Amino acid sequence: MIHISYVSRATSPLSAEDLLALLRQCLVNNPGNAVTGMLFYANGTFLQALEGEEEDVERLLRRIKVDPRNTDVQLLHRRQIARREYSDWTMGFRRLTDEALAAAGAAAGTRAAEINPLYLVQHQAVVDQLFREHVDPTALDAGLVDDPRDQLVRFFKNENTRMRSQVELALLMLESVTDAARGAGLTERHLQLCTEALQSLRQI
Ligand SMILES: Cc1cc2nc3c(=O)[nH]c(=O)nc-3n(C[C@H](O)[C@H](O)[C@H](O)COP(=O)(O)O)c2cc1C
Repeated sequence: MIHISYVSRATSPLSAEDLLALLRQCLVNNPGNAVTGMLFYANGTFLQALEGEEEDVERLLRRIKVDPRNTDVQLLHRRQIARREYSDWTMGFRRLTDEALAAAGAAAGTRAAEINPLYLVQHQAVVDQLFREHVDPTALDAGLVDDPRDQLVRFFKNENTRMRSQVELALLMLESVTDAARGAGLTERHLQLCTEALQSLRQI
């Protein structure tokens, strides 16, 4: 199996609805291709980790490179892995916030609204920490003696990441609905999105 990560630039800023459509594609397609990973987005910048069998990951990457929604795909890491690091996420998702960047070691005052691919290429330690915070903790600590306290910490870390992903999805759904309401374009589908957002939050 391989793990690759890359940064790319959105060709135009993505609305909540655009992001939701992209995520749906990931959540529908990735299980069939046995691809797992994590996608971050901020200020028209994508940062994604993909892992799976080499052939599957390479095929997906070729598709992403020609996807008109993004451009300038720059590889950050490419390595062989013995086990998945994002086994729990067909595609985890998080929009980067100022707080998430600070927690990942970005210098004080680093604003998510100003993030760009060049920043991420030049701050690999921040990128590594962002990815690290979202991996399945059992993949990271595989070599450690399995103390019951370690197991508990891992459980809560994993639950925390899972909840964040659920909340992020629900937020995108609700934001899509409020955007549509502002433009007086509310449809039956938006009501469906509200219902899905509620379901997503209730699963937490
Ligand atoms: C930043 C970015 C990340 C993407 N990640 C995935 C992904 O993880 N899985 C996926 O199937 N498609 C992903 N896509 C979409 C693919 O480029 C492509 O549109 C999709 O795989 C085609 O799927 P379809 O056969 O359902 O049309 C991504 C696109 C972008 C712009």
